Amino acid sequence: MEKVVRFGVSIEPDLLSKFDEIIGKRGYTNRSEAVRDLVRELIVEYDTTTDGGEVVGTITIIYDHDIGDVTNRLLHLQHQHNSEISSTMHIHVDAHTCLEVLVVYGCAEAVRKLSDNIRALRGVKHGELVMTSTGI
Ligand code: NI
Repeated sequence: MEKVVRFGVSIEPDLLSKFDEIIGKRGYTNRSEAVRDLVRELIVEYDTTTDGGEVVGTITIIYDHDIGDVTNRLLHLQHQHNSEISSTMHIHVDAHTCLEVLVVYGCAEAVRKLSDNIRALRGVKHGELVMTSTGI
């Protein structure tokens, strides 16, 4: 384990009591690990919402490959954004429905724009972008 720094925190008893209740339910065995995770969450939130922040993540989409030329448009978009796409996984869910997961990386704005463009394609029924940071 790398070197750690201890610091004191002043907090109202009611707030601490609620914090302890929640972290206990979530399985934390001590406050330090819960606070570290909160700090990591803040860093991820900052990196994924700040211009220039570097992110990694996934775009998960579900689409009907029989609608329009969604398959070709998706392929074209992925080739255009090959610098932000690390890999893709495609599952043929049923006769018409496809599930695709794209592993993406790069600056937050570019990744978000790619996700928006994919989700806006006709035939894409739902899409979800999940971003995290490697800087934690
Ligand atoms: Ni398919």
